[in-house]
Amino acid sequence: MTRQRRPKQDNRTQSLFPDQPAPGKSPAKKKQKVRYETDEDGFLREIVGSWVHDKHARLARYVKISGQSVRRKWLGPRNAGATFIDLFSGPARVRIADTTEILPGSPLVAWQESMSDGTPFREVYVSDANPELTRAAAVRLRREGATVIPHAGPAIETVDRILRSVNPYALHLAFLDPYNLESLHFDIIRKLATLARMDILIHVSVQDLNRNVRRYVIQECSPLDAFVPGWRDQVDIARSDQHVRAQIFDYWRKLLQGIAMNTAEVAELVTGSTEQPLYWLAFAARHRLALHFWEQIRHLTPEPQTSLA
Ligand SMILES: C[S@@+](CC[C@H](N)C(=O)[O-])C[C@H]1O[C@@H](n2cnc3c(N)ncnc32)[C@H](O)[C@@H]1O
Repeated sequence: MTRQRRPKQDNRTQSLFPDQPAPGKSPAKKKQKVRYETDEDGFLREIVGSWVHDKHARLARYVKISGQSVRRKWLGPRNAGATFIDLFSGPARVRIADTTEILPGSPLVAWQESMSDGTPFREVYVSDANPELTRAAAVRLRREGATVIPHAGPAIETVDRILRSVNPYALHLAFLDPYNLESLHFDIIRKLATLARMDILIHVSVQDLNRNVRRYVIQECSPLDAFVPGWRDQVDIARSDQHVRAQIFDYWRKLLQGIAMNTAEVAELVTGSTEQPLYWLAFAARHRLALHFWEQIRHLTPEPQTSLA
């Protein structure tokens, strides 16, 4: 008889998924509210937490570090160019909650950084399930000189439309920034990864998994089926929630490796105001050089980051 081997477990992975919620308000009882308001330009802007600084800083730094040494080589009329693909773009403008601080949203952060570096993306693809937000992002990017191709709709659908129109020989950077795991359908990543030169910065909602893991593993139709297809054969749901969560993430990384996308060894855990884990910024790329860049820029502070390796 063949013995079933348990998926290898790593204690450092588990540390991302505490059994106890962080001090302060219980995240399980807190309902996430998405709020928008009208900006002076007449379009919507999103009201966000201050952790948006970390998310956008890492995005900007990756755009910068990959600009001079790699993207530059794809520019010019004889070359295929470079694209930025934002499948959960939001409106491209945010205000930090309880402040008057107004900032660009992710597609504008990437575009502005590429411009200031002298290595502009040839096209910026913006896409959001909410057509009003997609339109707002497109208008704001065009105003700043970007060539924008908007596609409103759920990412699992717009990814197909975008893949049909991008230049397959170009250099691509995709940003996936959904609120929850269910929207991060693995097929989105699988499809993006069919392009030879594709780097993907992925926001994985640790908060969603921490709050809902037990509910997700007992549901017949679980959001995990989209996020990490095949998980039922890989995850031992009799183990503690902490183990189950860690197994899910380990298996997700294996799925990425299965489509020849390597992930960085170290995860960037972004935490909220009471230090509760919010999300993990993962980076996946086929080329080692891209992972090397990520390794160089992922530290925003000198403090050690949480390892998922
Ligand atoms: C975290 S916000 C994006 C913020 C933006 N990336 C930024 O950093 O400025 C997530 C966005 O995903 C959109 N969204 C939710 N479900 C989606 C789906 N299935 N496909 C595409 N967009 C979706 C929401 O409307 C929201 O604008």
